[in-house]
Amino acid sequence: MKVTIVGAGNVGATCARALANREVASDLVMIDIKPGVAEGKALDMWQTSAVQLYDTRINGYTGDYEKTRGSEVVVITSGLPRKPGMSRDDLITTNAVIVQEVTREIIRYSPDAKIIVVSNPLDVMTYAAYLAAHKPSNQVFGMAGVLDTARFKSFIAMEMNVSPKEISATLMGGHGDSMVPLPRYTTISGIPLTELMSAERIEAIVQRTIHGGAEIVNLMGTSAWYAPGAAAAYMVETILRGSRKIVPTSAWLEGEYGLSNIYFGVPVILGRNGVERVIQLQLNDAEMELVHKSAASVKETMNVLDQMGQS
Ligand code: LAC
Repeated sequence: MKVTIVGAGNVGATCARALANREVASDLVMIDIKPGVAEGKALDMWQTSAVQLYDTRINGYTGDYEKTRGSEVVVITSGLPRKPGMSRDDLITTNAVIVQEVTREIIRYSPDAKIIVVSNPLDVMTYAAYLAAHKPSNQVFGMAGVLDTARFKSFIAMEMNVSPKEISATLMGGHGDSMVPLPRYTTISGIPLTELMSAERIEAIVQRTIHGGAEIVNLMGTSAWYAPGAAAAYMVETILRGSRKIVPTSAWLEGEYGLSNIYFGVPVILGRNGVERVIQLQLNDAEMELVHKSAASVKETMNVLDQMGQS
């Protein structure tokens, strides 16, 4: 089984490393536009195989998409970070062009690939890939909820001083300030979070989760990569193993939650075919209001792309 990761930056390389260590695929291809970067990182990573004992082959190439032929899953991490003086809309248009070029190259050699978009702004870049891919929407989706719930769980584990393994959570919405962590759907070893923590502490953790990416940017001057890379790898593994886990994913909605024609974070069953089913939670009025607010902000960014005439 072959997996391609486009973009051998920190997120792409971390994703590759997690996949290799877990022997999820037999072949791992990294592609980058910067000459030598994917080749170098792939070689360095491959040289850990004899120490960490895995046999996943890792190869890197500079822009040679022929080498990605026959990939079952492709992770797209390409795109630029926002630079001073750049508006949010500038970032959308710049990265949409990059993501769409990459998507077309991927589809040329792997028409049946499941595509996981990781580029930011996440939900609109997933939409950009979908427009360029001309594939069923269940095969093009975005990674955000796995990362955002991982942050939520890690903060709960710190606060409660319990194992993060015991925590189960889901979350909805766009990958940004409007995301909607869902404490009512969060448990520790089956015990509702709401029984274990005060409303004030839960709200503080919800807010820290929402700003979890920015917290790291402020510390390091650049965005996170360990958790985003691991989260993307988790989705790849779930698909390739056909595990059918319920995973919060940026998926195309057609009426679910009263939302249509939008890429939006919702819990889905992930399987060999990609998004196998969108799970409909029985949200209360307050949760539904937050979800619809988030959808409005995602729609705004999608309109910027529509106005570019991308199709
Ligand atoms: C973050 C970026 C990678 O949330 O989206 O850290």
